[in-house]
Amino acid sequence: MKRAVYPGSFDPLTYGHLDIIRRAAGIFDELTVAVLNNNAKSPLFSVEERVKMIEEMTKDIANVEVDSFSGLLVDYAASHDIHVSVRGLRAVTDFEYELQVAQTNRLLSRGELDTFFLTTSLEYAYLSSSVVKEIAEFHGNLDRCVPEYVEQRLYEKVLVSKRVVRSDQQ
Ligand code: PNS
Repeated sequence: MKRAVYPGSFDPLTYGHLDIIRRAAGIFDELTVAVLNNNAKSPLFSVEERVKMIEEMTKDIANVEVDSFSGLLVDYAASHDIHVSVRGLRAVTDFEYELQVAQTNRLLSRGELDTFFLTTSLEYAYLSSSVVKEIAEFHGNLDRCVPEYVEQRLYEKVLVSKRVVRSDQQ
């Protein structure tokens, strides 16, 4: 049984992430999408919200499960008997950072955790969660960036945060 973990912030999940999830799920027997619980990054969505969104969007893929983790990925992987981490590469600019993380994970795990890179499909090469949040902030069109379910959750968040700011200013 070949298991893999796809770790990330997923704040929020984009079509680029979904593309990697679907393709990795076709390669491995079991794929765990693991959402990093890192308060230092002050995410827009809570871990629970991100897990729920990914669960909703992957419920048709039988061998995908969604989880969250804190701390080091190597510790999460070891405790779940997982030896492959999946990451997407959009462009050569991703590579330097991803190579460093992959090498660090091999070192920390004493060779027990390898990284499997998938190149992002070209139509999603421009996409990132940060860009998606910026588009949502200015009410731009997100049709080609995120599924409608994620778009709805984004606009709920953006509208709520605008309301909070407005009531703070009164
Ligand atoms: O979606 P992201 O933010 O690019 O994902 C980054 C992630 C979650 C894969 C990476 O930050 C991570 O694995 N963090 C957990 C802490 C860790 O293991 N760090 C050591 C490797 S540098």
